[in-house]
Amino acid sequence: MKPADLIQTLNWRYATKKFDPARKIPADLWDTLEQALVLTPSSFGLQPWKFIVVTDPAVKAKLRAVSWGQPQVEDCSHLVVFTARRNMRSEDIDHYVKRIAEVRDVPEASLSGYADMMKGSIIQGPLSKMVESWTARQAYIALGNFMTCAAALGVDTCPMEGLDPGQYDEILGLVGTDYHTLAICPAGYRSQEDAYAKLAKVRFPKEQVIRYV
Ligand SMILES: Cc1cc2nc3c(=O)[nH]c(=O)nc-3n(C[C@H](O)[C@H](O)[C@H](O)COP(=O)(O)O)c2cc1C
Repeated sequence: MKPADLIQTLNWRYATKKFDPARKIPADLWDTLEQALVLTPSSFGLQPWKFIVVTDPAVKAKLRAVSWGQPQVEDCSHLVVFTARRNMRSEDIDHYVKRIAEVRDVPEASLSGYADMMKGSIIQGPLSKMVESWTARQAYIALGNFMTCAAALGVDTCPMEGLDPGQYDEILGLVGTDYHTLAICPAGYRSQEDAYAKLAKVRFPKEQVIRYV
């Protein structure tokens, strides 16, 4: 990708207000976007999230009713609900360490120092006092990654926090589980009638947001 193409893509992306309900994301393209979600980096690599993909019109309708009535929830092709862990237990870290050992074909014992370091920080250390905000920060990285990857593939999205997370948890069966709803991202194709697509991007000048030291 040429640098100018990247900037063009980032300008093309906008928070889509009106999706074309007739246009669905093809299965192979959607599979690529799921892989992009899975490939999102996270602190220690712990991936304290689950992404719920909603395509069932009946569920979308229920979710729209608890999303300030915003039409993107129903009209999009695929709706991703970003959820993050409410807690982190020692077993969750062991589970991750097992996965590293399996993927990299190394003995689990060789990772005990890394496991202890993670437990020291997340279970006993400073992160234990803010686990929910820490896991949420990880999940928002996935949201950003998802939007940029979607735009690179010509898929429109709209990041959204205008919803009742407690109602989402009820509808999606998350109450009493380790995960809770943070934000959503409808994905699909913009309607040609969405006037927001033509609006200029409102951003502060680079000099006001980037500082050089
Ligand atoms: C975390 C987050 C939550 C947002 N919630 C909503 C929302 O509920 N509804 C909506 O239409 N737009 C929502 N937006 C879109 C922003 O208003 C939009 O991204 C911002 O104005 C910049 O415009 P652009 O994305 O078109 O460049 C949200 C954006 C973010 C990042």
